Amino acid sequence: MTSLAPTTPLAQTTHAIELAGVAKRYDSAPAPALGPLDLAVAQGEALAITGPSGSGKSTLLNLVAGLDRPTEGTVTVAGQRIDRLSEHALARFRRERIGMVFQFFNLLDDLTVADNIQLPAQLTGTARRRTAARAGELMEVLGIQKHARAYPGRLSGGERQRVAVARALVNRPALLLADEPTGALDTASGQDVRELLVDLHRGGQTIVLVTHDLALAQACASRTIHLVDGHLALDTTVEAVR
Ligand SMILES: Nc1ncnc2c1ncn2[C@@H]1O[C@H](COP(=O)(O)OP(=O)(O)OP(=O)(O)O)[C@@H](O)[C@H]1O
Ligand SMILES: [Mg+2]
Repeated sequence: MTSLAPTTPLAQTTHAIELAGVAKRYDSAPAPALGPLDLAVAQGEALAITGPSGSGKSTLLNLVAGLDRPTEGTVTVAGQRIDRLSEHALARFRRERIGMVFQFFNLLDDLTVADNIQLPAQLTGTARRRTAARAGELMEVLGIQKHARAYPGRLSGGERQRVAVARALVNRPALLLADEPTGALDTASGQDVRELLVDLHRGGQTIVLVTHDLALAQACASRTIHLVDGHLALDTTVEAVR
C-alpha cells in the first residue's frame, strides 16, 4: 500500500549544532571517550566546554568540526548532517562552514600575516580582490593591520592568536571553534583574546570554546557545559553576557 504520509519535513532547525546519541570510542579503547550524549546549540550561542584533562572536550570539538567521526549517533552542523560525508565533502564543509582556532595558533611561518589570513578564502576559490578586502577589514577590526606584511614569528602570542582568529573568520563561518585559545598566552594577551571573543559573540557569531579557564568561560560564554569522563555533568545557561 502506498503511504500517504508526508515526506520527512526539512529540518526547521535554528540549531547551529545538533548531536543525537553521539559516542566516540577510539580504536581499541574499552569504553567511549565521549558519550553517548545529546547536545543542541542554538545559533548565536557562545558555548564553553569545560572539564578535566581527558574528559573528552577536544573529542567533542573535533566531531563538531568534522575532523573526526562518531562511532555512534548523528552530527548535524549548520543544517548539514556531517557524520556520513565523504572525506572530500567533509573537507569542503570544514573549509566553508567552520573556522577553527587552536592553542598554538597553527599559523604558517613562511607566509605573511595577510597571506595566512587569506589562505582559507583562496582555497574556496573566492576572488582575490574580495579576499584581500575581507582580510583587510578583519585585520583592522582585530588591530593587526600594521603587521600585515610581517611574518608570524615576529609577533607576540596575543597578536598571533588574533591573526589565527582573523584566518578563522575570513570565510564567514557558521561556527567559530576554539580549543584552548588562551592556553598559551600571558594574562594580558589572554585578556585581549577574551574580549575579542566577547565582541564576536555580541556580533552574533556562534562560538564553541574549549577551555580549562573558568574565567574565560564566564566572560565569553552564554552557556557552559562541563564534561566528566565523556559525559555531560553540568549544563548552565547565563541570562546575558556581561
Ligand atoms: N586519537 C586518539 N586515540 C586514542 N585515544 C584518544 C585519542 N584522542 C583522545 N583520546 C583519548 O580520549 C580521551 C578524551 O580525550 P580528549 O583529548 O578529548 O580530552 P580533553 O578533555 O580535550 O583533554 P585535555 O584537557 O587534556 O586537552 C582521553 O582518554 C584520551 O586519551
Ligand atoms: Mg583537549
